[in-house]
Amino acid sequence: TETILLAETETTSSARPLEPKESVQEIEEWRQKGEKMSLLLVLISVVVGMVGLLLRWNEVRYGRRGNVRLPPGTMGWPLFGETTEFLKEGPSFMKRKGLRYGRLFRTHILGCPTVACMDPELNRRMLLQGESGGLVPGYPQSMLDILGRNNIAAVHGPLHRAMRGAMLGLVHPAAIRASLLPKIDAFMRSHLDGWSGCVVDVQAKTKEMTLLSALNQIAGITAGPLSDALKTELYTLVLGTISLPINLLGTRYYQGLQARKKLVSMLEQMIVERRSSIQAHDDMLDALLRSGDDGAREKLSDEQIIDLIITLIYSGYETMSTTSMMAVKYLSDHPRALQDLKREHLDIRKGKSSEEAIDYEDFKSMAFTRAVIFETLRLATVVNGLMRKTTQDVEMNGHVIPKGWRIYVHTREINYDPFMYPDPTTFNPWRWLEKNTESHPHFMMFGGGGRMCPGKEVGTVEIATFLHYFVTRYRWEEEGRNAILRFPRVVAPNGLHIRVQDY
Ligand code: HEM
Repeated sequence: TETILLAETETTSSARPLEPKESVQEIEEWRQKGEKMSLLLVLISVVVGMVGLLLRWNEVRYGRRGNVRLPPGTMGWPLFGETTEFLKEGPSFMKRKGLRYGRLFRTHILGCPTVACMDPELNRRMLLQGESGGLVPGYPQSMLDILGRNNIAAVHGPLHRAMRGAMLGLVHPAAIRASLLPKIDAFMRSHLDGWSGCVVDVQAKTKEMTLLSALNQIAGITAGPLSDALKTELYTLVLGTISLPINLLGTRYYQGLQARKKLVSMLEQMIVERRSSIQAHDDMLDALLRSGDDGAREKLSDEQIIDLIITLIYSGYETMSTTSMMAVKYLSDHPRALQDLKREHLDIRKGKSSEEAIDYEDFKSMAFTRAVIFETLRLATVVNGLMRKTTQDVEMNGHVIPKGWRIYVHTREINYDPFMYPDPTTFNPWRWLEKNTESHPHFMMFGGGGRMCPGKEVGTVEIATFLHYFVTRYRWEEEGRNAILRFPRVVAPNGLHIRVQDY
């Protein structure tokens, strides 16, 4: 009937009577077209049905758990879940889902069924709850494979306590005062030499600074062929940890694993040399090789020492380099903040000769510098969230997060909370002087609980020392327009170029 009707419509619209032979032929053509259309409709229905089924697959697989009350949400496609949207949209994905399902919702990202949490109070509780409450770190496989099975983020229980204890032993305030700050000071002076009269890419310089300074503190390595070789492998390793774990020639993951192998053999070589040397070295490698000799704590194996060194470099790399770069950017854009910062550092230099280093008391007096660093960390959020994995069913606000699921503790939003930070999108370092937000229970820029960042203080010391020499030696202005991307990583895609002059 449909075919005939269509044929009739055609006849009417063409306004020309059909010859009998012609009309039979046209009717036949229309019949065939109609058949094709029906087939197409069937095909479309099948595809739509299959898509529906596929979309239901994860729901059925993870969503129905007897009487267990899972948080609301959707699980997306089989295997991929909602990873693409999560990575592409970033904070907007979280906001969109949050508006629809509330601040605790289920999803499927990075290959795992996951509960994402944007509620500051729940986030705080989860970080404090830790292992005893069934929560251990749940970082992606590529990261764990490349950083090594002993890396702090991969271990829990007694091994975590041992590795964390060793790490804290290297960066506690007494070590910063006696050994790390003098090294950082000497390093910054030479790293900042010769910038005057040049156009400098601050992004490249701060990345190099973070790696070289870490190598210097770890094994007294200074710029040269060894640091160049280590730097190349470390850059490749970092990229590998944020890739899909596909171990095929040419993938970033494959390259990351290769870089790890090379780094491990270089570090093994260094350990052999250290053991055969009679000379004592005042650096982290020596401290790690000697740790446990006094019986106060268990001795670390060489493999553990190597994983600890790699984790130490890795954890500080992006956080520190990006924060240093963004501090320069915010100071360029906010002359009044730069003026106050300069005043603080020029006051410190007043009583010193140009060659004299800054000491721990100087650092402690840098209240405004600390405020600039924290305000930079807040606005240019490097760590958007932390990952945990459940080792048992975990109850959370009347919902149950099943054993084996991931939890994405999304800490980013709190940085823009207007109650905690009035006028939250404005760069206002003075706010940190007015209120001691650092001790607010919802201050989570360095995590919280038993996994709170052990590098918080040494990291702040390093950025403060960089700023000290930068602002007391130089003035600068931005060269051209430098775009900054905020997501998925805070990055200047074409660099952050500044023209530098002597102060
Ligand atoms: C501005 C700089 C830094 C920021 C914003 C930062 C942030 C963080 C955060 C949020 C965590 C918690 C991770 C979690 O709970 O899963 C963390 C852990 C960690 N950070 Fe930092 N970090 C910084 C600098 C450093 C530095 C310089 C080092 C090395 C000296 C370091 C070493 C570590 C280590 C080893 C952990 C793991 C601790 C554990 O699991 O017990 N961080 N950091």
